[in-house]
Amino acid sequence: MFQGKKVWLTGASSGIGLALARQLAEAGAQLILTSRRPEVLEEVRRSLANRDDHRVLPLDLAHPEQAAETARKALDGEVIDILINNAGVSQRSRVIDTDLAVYRQLMEIDYFAVVALTKLVLPGMLERRSGQIVTVSSVAGKVGTKLRSGYAGAKFSVLGFMDCLRAETADQGIIVTSVLPGFINTQVAHNSLTGDGTALGHEDPDNAGGISPEQCALISLKAIADGKAEVVVGSGLSKLAPFLQRFAPGLVRRMVAKR
Ligand SMILES: NC(=O)c1ccc[n+]([C@@H]2O[C@H](COP(=O)([O-])OP(=O)(O)OC[C@H]3O[C@@H](n4cnc5c(N)ncnc54)[C@H](OP(=O)(O)O)[C@@H]3O)[C@@H](O)[C@H]2O)c1
Repeated sequence: MFQGKKVWLTGASSGIGLALARQLAEAGAQLILTSRRPEVLEEVRRSLANRDDHRVLPLDLAHPEQAAETARKALDGEVIDILINNAGVSQRSRVIDTDLAVYRQLMEIDYFAVVALTKLVLPGMLERRSGQIVTVSSVAGKVGTKLRSGYAGAKFSVLGFMDCLRAETADQGIIVTSVLPGFINTQVAHNSLTGDGTALGHEDPDNAGGISPEQCALISLKAIADGKAEVVVGSGLSKLAPFLQRFAPGLVRRMVAKR
């Protein structure tokens, strides 16, 4: 499915994105690797199977308009078969302690950047009547818990955006896939924003106890290859949460208030 496909992958320098990059390269995809850190991306590129098939496109997605303009120039109308919006930042702070600027930053990276990059590749996909847009949202995009108000806001929003996009493009050959990870053992907690916008700087036990990014990538890529609309990836309660939220919302409300 991925052989010879041009895949633009954001958040490729770490965690789930890095695992996706490795597995996509093994499967024969030609990757465009995006994150903020050019030297790390270049190191990743050199470590991948068929390394000369891939290239790096460093962007700061906290500034979506600027990032999209830089990408537009760099891609110069190039065919993108699959866009994977994976880059993201989480949060660990209570509403009462969180600056408005932090809410905006989370929305820029986790929501507006997805909209901006999607709008960049969509016209070409519609013209060819072919292409796939994938966004890594979160279980936090279905279930709101403590300390994640800005993150959940962005991840709920992006799922809504993806649902609308899927509806609008359903009869035009475009596949729209949302990936909802539960707890995955990556740097996500370490990099999470606290109330004043500084990074948390340490792991948390929920993520450390989660499934590996390699397992997450494997399950996500199967769903992408199968053209699924949505996939929940994880184990235990974090995987069950969206289903419980749908069928037993009162129970979920009591559980999240206690945790
Ligand atoms: N791990 C989990 O438990 C979990 C659960 C649910 C959802 N997710 C979602 O999964 C996705 C990947 O997260 P992860 O767990 O792999 O976390 P991670 O290890 O912290 O990786 C985050 C990635 O996003 C990139 N990124 C962050 N800010 C950026 C910016 N301003 N511009 C461009 N790139 C930026 C980082 O690259 P640079 O630092 O090089 O810029 C990095 O490659 C995120 O969307 C996250 O919300 C993760």
